[in-house]
Amino acid sequence: MSLEVVILAAGQGTRMRSALPKVLHPVAGKPMLGHVIDSARQLQPQGIHVVIGHGADAVRERLAAEDLDFVMQREQLGTGHAVAQAAPALSAERVLILYGDVPLIEVGTLQRLLQKVDDQHLALLTVELGDPTGYGRIVRDAAGAVRAIVEHKDATPEQRAIKEGNTGILAVPGKRLGGWLSRLSNSNVQGEYYLTDVVAMAVADGLTVATEQPLDAMEVQGANDRIQLAELERHYQQRAARRLMAEGVTLRDPARFDVRGDVSVGRDVLIDINVILEGRVLIEEGVEIGPNCVIRNSTLRKGAIVKANSHLDGAELGEGADCGPFARLRPGSVLGAKAHVGNFVELKNAVMGEGAKAGHLSYLGDAEIGARSNIGAGTITCNYDGANKSHTRMGEDVFIGSNSALVAPVSLGDGATTGAGSVVTQDVPANTLAVGRAKQRNIEGWKRPVKVKK
Ligand code: UD1
Ligand code: CA
Repeated sequence: MSLEVVILAAGQGTRMRSALPKVLHPVAGKPMLGHVIDSARQLQPQGIHVVIGHGADAVRERLAAEDLDFVMQREQLGTGHAVAQAAPALSAERVLILYGDVPLIEVGTLQRLLQKVDDQHLALLTVELGDPTGYGRIVRDAAGAVRAIVEHKDATPEQRAIKEGNTGILAVPGKRLGGWLSRLSNSNVQGEYYLTDVVAMAVADGLTVATEQPLDAMEVQGANDRIQLAELERHYQQRAARRLMAEGVTLRDPARFDVRGDVSVGRDVLIDINVILEGRVLIEEGVEIGPNCVIRNSTLRKGAIVKANSHLDGAELGEGADCGPFARLRPGSVLGAKAHVGNFVELKNAVMGEGAKAGHLSYLGDAEIGARSNIGAGTITCNYDGANKSHTRMGEDVFIGSNSALVAPVSLGDGATTGAGSVVTQDVPANTLAVGRAKQRNIEGWKRPVKVKK
């Protein structure tokens, strides 16, 4: 049966106290609405309609994509009114309603819900709550069949005693939806057009209301303020940590580890505390990551080691390569197998061959460094003249003396050497020593100045 998804995301989110629309507040580095859209996509619906209102321009700009239909709800007159804005665009046999501020809903839960909806059945996702205050209540008859949803504010004391709450998520037969929405009224305590009123209409039309529950109540938890947002974040991170541990990663402390993106891992990976993985990160078998590292959009090949306090962005470490502590690898940094980058070394768009080393305090930008070459402490590639960037090329087995300044564009052949403190402005042929510094003079009998008495 065909499927379309409507995501409600027009509300203001006053309690966030923010200039940013509520649904753009991130969980794990991605807007809440982005999580919901991604879950909807996994159901492969024929359409995804996002109802926007408050901060509509910002939402559209942040999340625009080919497969999304943004529908404007100018005034927020209730959840029923919100869905009604999308109704003219709907044509599928089944319509699923989701919420832009309920980001942790699991695709598996939605699939179970969708199995229960057809022409004769409406499917509701409900949740048993210790304290259902504020939630719509699921009203069942003596036989246990769902008759209606009553909003908390409209409920009688007996109805308020019901612990089964409405999550808001439901799936309805598409053919009927338009008719029901057009018959909604706002004569209730809140003066809103309630989507929940379609349940009683479905029952009156002879449909049966099926229910399904999430495996975990956090799946249907919304974020109305920053406290709830933080709770969702922690829950997401717990889930991510458990998944990685199940795949063979040792996390020194799963509570001090954050994933903000897509991570794939091999077995026997060791991750110390306070590590943040962002974007697409590929970690192969046997990799070790020390404490306090940020690793974004990077690939760590088998047995690579990232030592404490390193920051990687768009980098690749070859098999058995290592970096840090305090290494900074910027986009385009590639370390060959067993290459080594030590403390306070910054790389940008720099490729180091197999076994090449830069042990201490260097900037290597727009550079190629051949296999087994050794970069002395304090070496700088002067890649920028204030207007343009230029390249530095080093062959294999090159030895750069400490504190050399390599003024690009410049090339050094295989086996070339530079004397410490050299400013290298000309190409250095293979197997040649370049010394580009003032010659040392020793001045005999020189006296240090003495303090003048006043
Ligand atoms: C709704 C349900 C309630 C359920 C609860 C779960 C209705 C009438 N009630 O109540 O049964 O227990 O969710 O959290 O549906 N929105 C719009 N446009 C509008 C109104 C709302 O886009 O005109 C969006 C909001 O941004 C929000 C969501 O719909 O994301 C829910 O709206 P809200 O007003 O918070 O509904 P509740 O009163 O919580
Ligand atoms: Ca709400």
